[in-house]
Amino acid sequence: MGDPLHTVSTLPTARRPGCPFDPPEELLEARRHGPLSSYTFPGGHVGWLVTGYDLIKSVLSDPRFSSRREFMRHPTVDYGGLQLPPVPPGEFLLMDDPEHSRYRKPLMGKFTVRRMRLLTERVEQITAEHLDAMEESGPPADLASAFAKPVPAMVICELLGVPAADRPSFQAQFESFMDAEAQDEDAATAYTATRDRLGELVAAKRAQPTDDVLSELTDSDLTDEELQGMALVLLAAGLDTTANMLALGTFALLRHPEQLAALRADPGLADRAVEELLRYLSVGKTFMRTALEDVRLGGRTVRAGSSLILSYNTANRDPERFTDPHVLDFRRQDGGHVAFGHGIHQCLGQQLARVEMRVGFPALVDRFPSLRLAVPAEEIVMRTELSDIHGVKSLPVTWDA
Ligand code: HEM
Repeated sequence: MGDPLHTVSTLPTARRPGCPFDPPEELLEARRHGPLSSYTFPGGHVGWLVTGYDLIKSVLSDPRFSSRREFMRHPTVDYGGLQLPPVPPGEFLLMDDPEHSRYRKPLMGKFTVRRMRLLTERVEQITAEHLDAMEESGPPADLASAFAKPVPAMVICELLGVPAADRPSFQAQFESFMDAEAQDEDAATAYTATRDRLGELVAAKRAQPTDDVLSELTDSDLTDEELQGMALVLLAAGLDTTANMLALGTFALLRHPEQLAALRADPGLADRAVEELLRYLSVGKTFMRTALEDVRLGGRTVRAGSSLILSYNTANRDPERFTDPHVLDFRRQDGGHVAFGHGIHQCLGQQLARVEMRVGFPALVDRFPSLRLAVPAEEIVMRTELSDIHGVKSLPVTWDA
């Protein structure tokens, strides 16, 4: 028998004051004890907390660990023994193969080089339009609502082919979907309303296809309900993540002036800056899996039915994988973060997300050379750890007009 097993009984709801970018201390402490800890879920189920980089990758490559929603427990909320229903057709993020790949495969074929090129041009235009509007209204501004949230929402409208006239209302719908904190009533209402709007869009594309991902998919054996679910996955996975990378990433840049100066001096550094911000911030912080059978993992036996919390943010700060893991360094040599996951569910939209950030950060810092926080850093209101995605609630910024 190896070292005694470290046990974690509650996850924190907030990060350490003054350390908005670092994972909660309890998770870092768990990683110091080893890559695998025992975790007691609300309601008493004894499962696992995986904090090590290598171990998380091995879970993500192993089909004995399931992503299906009906097996899941929430890490911090007790459902009182209730089992969640399976996800509706098309919502493949929370499915296993072969069902999962039935939806993922046709979508992969739609993220072509041609489409990425067209989207890059549109991302540049959309970014410039939002920076123009922000500049025109003058300082101060909330960078989250002026830039970080609307840009990814507009990009998803492009991807799905939302007609120009409907974009403002779709965008408002998408933003309410993003703003709803996990588990509250607003989240359920926003989910249903968004799903309904996507259903209308699918029907419109079926009737009159245009040049977009959704229209192309109508030319397949997928039903309208399945397409609606797939569109919803693109939104759920692609909006809040990118919006928070842009807002939290700007906050991180402003708190690391030497890195910001390096990016300003050399826009060619943007690709590496984006990868490092992805690693350092890990906005998609934890994901769940369930063991379908008994599995030996990290020297322990994970029993069938056990729930595992995979802490992508501590994996990306694992000292056995990254040198000086808590330092933000755009010139670091050790790449290979898991901010986009790994294995069969690895982020499908990662190239698009990269484009949005590679265009967004340099354009922002170029447009506003004197950009700075409009309030002391300690007053920036962060999302709680109960949110699925880490980030800021708003980011008040100012500049010399
Ligand atoms: C899956 C992160 C942007 C579409 C994932 C996963 C992560 C992730 C960690 C894997 C979840 C798991 O292991 O269960 C991110 C981050 C983003 C981003 C950090 C922004 C910086 C996007 C964008 C899109 C997108 C822009 C598309 C428009 C997807 C889809 C999946 C996914 C469809 C599900 C893949 C599957 O289940 O096979 N993303 N994502 N993501 N992402 Fe992203």
